[in-house]
Amino acid sequence: MKKITSLNKAIFPVAGLGTRFLPATRAQPKEMLPVVDKPLIQYAVEEAYAAGIRHMIFVTGRNKRAIEDHFDTAYELENELEMAQKLDLLALVRSVQPSDMDCSYVRQPRSLGLGHAVLCARHLIGQEPFAVLLADDLMVGPPGGLPVLAQMAAQFEVLGQSVLAVQEVPLAHTRRYGIVAADAAGTNLLKVRQIVEKPAPETAPSRMGVAGRYILTPAIFEHIRRQPTGVGGEIQLTDGIAGLLGEESVYALQYQGKRYDCGSKQGFLEATVELALAHPEVGEHFRSYLRSLQVR
Ligand code: G1P
Repeated sequence: MKKITSLNKAIFPVAGLGTRFLPATRAQPKEMLPVVDKPLIQYAVEEAYAAGIRHMIFVTGRNKRAIEDHFDTAYELENELEMAQKLDLLALVRSVQPSDMDCSYVRQPRSLGLGHAVLCARHLIGQEPFAVLLADDLMVGPPGGLPVLAQMAAQFEVLGQSVLAVQEVPLAHTRRYGIVAADAAGTNLLKVRQIVEKPAPETAPSRMGVAGRYILTPAIFEHIRRQPTGVGGEIQLTDGIAGLLGEESVYALQYQGKRYDCGSKQGFLEATVELALAHPEVGEHFRSYLRSLQVR
């Protein structure tokens, strides 16, 4: 695929404990929970790859080995499939790890927040812009259109400044998101004035919530490093972006497509049903099955 941006690195913070999915996440990372036939983390990695990114940086913790194994060469499996001439499956297994994609793993020793997770990868980013993708948020681009991070990367290419993915959220849900106050700056594009992590509905500056996709300039690191702990006693990425606003412009893109909050059971189930309906192999039968349920 043609590289469409100068963006080459993405950070995937995957050290979280996944308490909302216990007991499923007792021994396996929440990012490895499959939606139909792919783990959540693979959807996010494929989205980064489709935006031209080739260096994937995972900020991991204890119990996250399965993620490293997933993106490693599956030598025994490949060998077995080759011997059995199961070439379709072989191609599928190999497609998880394209030959031009590099993966790095950094540990986040304690859950000190999203900002802290991003800071853990600083030495691998250096002075380059980078993307952050939260795999909990499964993003599906519009039919026939660009995936969400690729939409953001196209904006970044023009603006050369940080770009956040935003969507309007119900007022009652502002406590779940970073919320921006922003002015119109183009089609679906906003220039951020203010950003606050998880405000109460009464104090939220707007209903424009940040989805789990960010393109950031490296100037963010110093702001994260200097800031005190924020909401929940954690080092918040949102607070770092608030600091960055004093130094650089930050934009927000009202992306085209749909976000599934797979950090919640409801969002995970919605993603499973909708992606199953759209799946080339199981979609048709699954649709008839759902019809036959006559749900009340
Ligand atoms: C994180 C961010 C928040 C953002 C959200 C998107 O929160 O801190 O600003 O709006 O992701 O999903 P979390 O969902 O990890 O609590």
